[in-house]
Amino acid sequence: MKFGKFIKSILTSIVLITILGSSSLYAKEGNARKGKYLFRKYCRECHTDGATGDRAGKALSPIDKTQAEWDKIFKSYKSLACADQWDKRKAKDIKDIYAHLWGHAFDSPSPAKCE
Ligand code: HEC
Repeated sequence: MKFGKFIKSILTSIVLITILGSSSLYAKEGNARKGKYLFRKYCRECHTDGATGDRAGKALSPIDKTQAEWDKIFKSYKSLACADQWDKRKAKDIKDIYAHLWGHAFDSPSPAKCE
């Protein structure tokens, strides 16, 4: 039954690799495409030219910061004037927004400005 044992260990490996592989995929940084949509939905209402209301912020686009600056902002968002807005969002959504902003930062390969 040596062959059966061999097959069993191969199958076990495949199962393990699949589980570990997918969980590390999940832990990876967010989805930039989704982040672009979420940034518009959750952030741009205040961070856009002509935003009104007592809580209107400055217009904000990925290109307005370097990747290091976005890193710093996301690490210490609690000190921002709008930290309460961030806290309303799911951690996963914030990760996706980070992926969008960081991925299109001033010093990224594809800087982007929100129109
Ligand atoms: C209810 C309005 C509102 C919402 C929603 C909001 N913000 Fe803000 N935000 C502000 C205000 C007001 C300030 C302080 C004024 C400024 O710097 O624009 C600020 C400041 C900031 C700053 C610092 C400004 C700078 O240039 O360094 C960043 C970065 C920021 N917000 C990012 C975000 C992100 C990302 C989101 C979405 C998750 C968000 N904000 C959602 C109102 C808002």
